[in-house]
Amino acid sequence: MELEEYQLRQAIIDQCLWMNAKGLNQGNSGNISARYKNQLIITPTAMAYEAMRPEMLATISLDDQAEWQGSHQPSSEWRFHYDLMRARPEIGAIVHTHSTYATSLAITRRSIPAVHYMIALFGGNDVRCADYATYGTQALSNHVLVAMQDRKACLLANHGMLVAGETLAKAMWLASELETLAEQYYHALQLGGAVILSDEQMAEVQAKLANYGLNQALTNPESASTKSATTLK
Ligand code: 13P
Repeated sequence: MELEEYQLRQAIIDQCLWMNAKGLNQGNSGNISARYKNQLIITPTAMAYEAMRPEMLATISLDDQAEWQGSHQPSSEWRFHYDLMRARPEIGAIVHTHSTYATSLAITRRSIPAVHYMIALFGGNDVRCADYATYGTQALSNHVLVAMQDRKACLLANHGMLVAGETLAKAMWLASELETLAEQYYHALQLGGAVILSDEQMAEVQAKLANYGLNQALTNPESASTKSATTLK
């Protein structure tokens, strides 16, 4: 195995451990995948993250065959990881969790409307809730593809949430932002209901946030800014 692939596998495990430590997921729930060349690398099904080692992750070819290889069976949710990566070439990583607040909203079958301007990070003015289907089925993956149209995240009815990013780091950052948004919406509902930002207000935010994201230096050290003397006005 190439060093680059080994490091990506380790990075997936590190993110799994991080999301559980941060309360973004619990136990063996959730799964993570990352694109590597013409395949995806994905966590094995039903395995404690603490026990996972890089060589235990499975690969699935991103061609029509969907051939998997590995010492352990891929996540039962491989279908939506595979279908999303095939449909959306810009996606480099997918994080699926059963985080408490996003899942609570998904249990009520609510989408998240524009309750906070940060919703713009997810590609539009809402984060939709995908229709219910049994976990691990093609039907669930089909619902996910619909809910993810022009979006980087969706809730899964009575199940959880998923987030797609260009990189593993961006996907996990978005997962954390989505759970925060879900928590804020949950509390607003307790307080009597949320005021929803208008399409006009959100259009302004979308324009402003177009270039907002993880510090570029995180994903590309070469691009660390050299514009230290640029005026802010
Ligand atoms: P896996 O252990 O098969 O990845 O399943 C966990 C899960 O979250 C199913 O939705």
